[in-house]
Amino acid sequence: MTAYRIGYGEDAHRLEANLPLFLGGLEVAGSPHGAVAHSDGDALLHAVSDALLSAIAAGDIGKHFPDTDPQWKGVSSATILRHCLALVHQAKYRPVNVSAVVTLDQPKLGGLRQELALHLGELLELPEIYVGLTFKTSEGLAPHHIQARATILLTKIKLGS
Ligand code: C5P
Ligand code: MG
Repeated sequence: MTAYRIGYGEDAHRLEANLPLFLGGLEVAGSPHGAVAHSDGDALLHAVSDALLSAIAAGDIGKHFPDTDPQWKGVSSATILRHCLALVHQAKYRPVNVSAVVTLDQPKLGGLRQELALHLGELLELPEIYVGLTFKTSEGLAPHHIQARATILLTKIKLGS
């Protein structure tokens, strides 16, 4: 069993006015728009969840949580992420560090970086210093669009730890 595994995931949503914007499990207060989605549209948690599944070659969130299955109807992105983390633990790995980029023109997210890192870290059972968050605009190319990309490093769980 290899000592480390790496996973990559991404997600995108269209944004519309008068919808809440959820990111990293938090609602971004004062956002002029939010994601159009079947779920809560949390692009960051979806990207991180796909990265977790990819790291253990377990497919993607569409495979594990089909939106045609009533069991998963309306399920929160935090629940999806916790389920993906449980699969990682079952495979005898745990996250070491996560690095994500969110591309969004408005609102600015810099002021939320620490709160988001803390919250995402809690979901991944990682101290916030191992949660790297980069925010980018699309330079006006995609003002009604949010995109998140994430890489995650896993390490093998040592027996007795
Ligand atoms: O995309 P650009 O390089 O012009 O972004 C400049 C900076 O603005 C970023 O480095 C980031 O610190 C900040 N930013 C932000 N919230 C966003 C997009 C960018 O805080 N939604
Ligand atoms: Mg730039």
